[in-house]
Amino acid sequence: MKDLTLAEKASLTSGSDTWHTTAVRDVVRALTLSDGPHGLRRQDESSGDALGLTRSVPATCFPPAVGLGSSWDPELARLVGGTIAREARAQGVDVVLGPGVNIKRSPLCGRNFEYFSEDPRLSGVMGAALVDGIQSLGVGACVKHYAVNNQETDRMRISADVDERTLREIYLPAFEHIVREAAPYMVMCAYNKINGVYASQNRWLLTEVLREEWGFDGLVVSDWGAVADRVAALEAGLDLEMPPTGTDAEIADAVRDGRLPEEVLDRAVGRLLRLASRVPAAPATTGWDADAHHEVARQAARASAVLLKNDGDVLPIAPGRKVAVLGELARTPRYQGHGSSHVVPTRLDSAWESLAAALDGAVFAAGYRLDGQADPELEREAVEAAAGADVAVLFLGLPDSAESEGFDRTGIDLPGDQTTLLRRVAGTGVDVVVVLSNGGVVSVSGWQDAASAILEGWLLGQAGGSALADLLLGTHSPSGRLTETIPHRLADVPSHLHFPGGDGHVVYGEGRYVGYRHYDTLDVDVAYPFGHGLSYTTFAYSGLEARETGANEWQVEVTVTNTGSRFAHEVVQLYVAFDEERPTRPRRELRGFAKIGLEPGASERVSFTLTGRDLAWWSASRGGWRIDPGAFTVEVGASSRDIRQRLELSTPGDGWAPPLTAMSTLGEWLDHPVGSRVLKEAFGGSALDRFSPALMGLARGIPLAKFRTFGIGLSPEVVDRLVAAVDG
Ligand code: BGC
Repeated sequence: MKDLTLAEKASLTSGSDTWHTTAVRDVVRALTLSDGPHGLRRQDESSGDALGLTRSVPATCFPPAVGLGSSWDPELARLVGGTIAREARAQGVDVVLGPGVNIKRSPLCGRNFEYFSEDPRLSGVMGAALVDGIQSLGVGACVKHYAVNNQETDRMRISADVDERTLREIYLPAFEHIVREAAPYMVMCAYNKINGVYASQNRWLLTEVLREEWGFDGLVVSDWGAVADRVAALEAGLDLEMPPTGTDAEIADAVRDGRLPEEVLDRAVGRLLRLASRVPAAPATTGWDADAHHEVARQAARASAVLLKNDGDVLPIAPGRKVAVLGELARTPRYQGHGSSHVVPTRLDSAWESLAAALDGAVFAAGYRLDGQADPELEREAVEAAAGADVAVLFLGLPDSAESEGFDRTGIDLPGDQTTLLRRVAGTGVDVVVVLSNGGVVSVSGWQDAASAILEGWLLGQAGGSALADLLLGTHSPSGRLTETIPHRLADVPSHLHFPGGDGHVVYGEGRYVGYRHYDTLDVDVAYPFGHGLSYTTFAYSGLEARETGANEWQVEVTVTNTGSRFAHEVVQLYVAFDEERPTRPRRELRGFAKIGLEPGASERVSFTLTGRDLAWWSASRGGWRIDPGAFTVEVGASSRDIRQRLELSTPGDGWAPPLTAMSTLGEWLDHPVGSRVLKEAFGGSALDRFSPALMGLARGIPLAKFRTFGIGLSPEVVDRLVAAVDG
């Protein structure tokens, strides 16, 4: 560092072009960054397309986070991460710009396909595993978009206005988990403001929380174009502006004229040098096995589809049945979303080709057009094909134009011509299996009665077509689970009245009640709950036990048995629940999960560790986590609405009581272990005992210092003495 001139140091705080950091002599090389997150989008430098949006170098396209998240399988995410890293090494990429772990606050967010879940624990665990996998080969991962980037509307300017408890309990924990558990080399700040301050120049977010509290020792990069003020950003803790705006002189000038302490610049440069030392230069290999990577993509896709319903066990398709495969999406797969995460795949499997290869005599009809234009002839052909079959496998979903980075959706319905086609196909009397392709949730409530089975195929990457065929034909059992609730109607979504805001602000008025936290607390009926997903077997749960292993720490165990007739995976989910008459917190929250594979008749004892943090809530007045003493319930089950075993436990709390002051209420004094003693010693129990219940109810809400107002005669001196007695 000491060999670097001021100008050289300033040059290291921005890139040399859209995808590279700046090299300085032989001190540090230029590092190559590339999207991310479900495969590489390395720009083809000869293409003249600076962003590489359409003409990136081919790479394996794995299931986007909406799919991979639904696998609930961190081991699989680690494998996918490692496989992406192998391609990164071969392509000379030093840092992969992913994973994205923003919370799905509304099903309308156009970029939900890039995010894992409405739940922070699930997002954090899956994200950490992906980071781990990527970094296992010496390639950096970059967690994004930090933070509270939950919509695309006005994303570059809007202020997400969120109370601190909601930030701490919903929007930050996934980042926190990944930073603490997987130590990513980079974090990317979001475009938006948080409570009025751009993420890129938010010192609280980038320095106090990220580094001082969580111990992040990596580099913070801007989202592409997120910096408004270079000097303010650097001071707040942002180390690298991407892409460069040619404004490095502003940094050097600010140091020269004393507005910016040189140590601040040195700190950012130090972080870039540390990043360079973490990612070894020069690829060890130049090639990778495209077939093997495609197989990993297929394995991941298989684990990610969610079987929502399967009436009469219509799936898997029994041998010998005549099958009509319907819907353009069976032939032209929708397998990833649009925008910066778009990968040019190495190959592409279509479900129709895979099914045709496996099924004698299967027929295909497109049924509808993907551009939304009605086509009665296509519809007629599809209905005719269905009428001649035993089973119609009908692919429905959202066209490419319906969802993308950069804009939000306005509704959650499938295109009307597709649901009309479904009704007509069902009208032939054939068994209908609907296979969905969509990045954001679509409503099923208006049409699901017409389908015997629904397989939610999300966006599954380049091998999605063959993976769906594997599941439909039963060579593998579905094992994905919903990472987000499917509501009946858009209007049921808790953020509905607060999304996407306007006039420069989006107010997170639903607070912590995101997704199932809302539906379960208020008992709102949903189409399919968080955590739901069927398989081709059944599972039984038994023997839930908890053993206290420390202060506010328990080992929880439950036995899961495969009671069906074939091998399959179960996702065992552990929730902590509070049954409050008047809710002060979500009814239940996911605190652990495990995906296990079981042969028919086999059992496994599944074990979870529950910690104080799993019970805690964020107290803004304390500026920290709190655990209240009392009862809580451990629930284990197969979805947030399919709880199979319950166990009541209790916690002594964390022993913390808020400090008492003259402005603490009588109730707070009486509930405080020392305060109540001091009060009783000062006045004798009897004075308070004379209060009627109604008077006591009223008095409990009055701060001690205000009692004088009501002629009860607590002079300031007396109150001061009481406060001193508590402090002493
Ligand atoms: C996106 C990021 C992406 C970056 C570089 C931005 O517009 O928000 O997720 O990594 O572009 O392509």
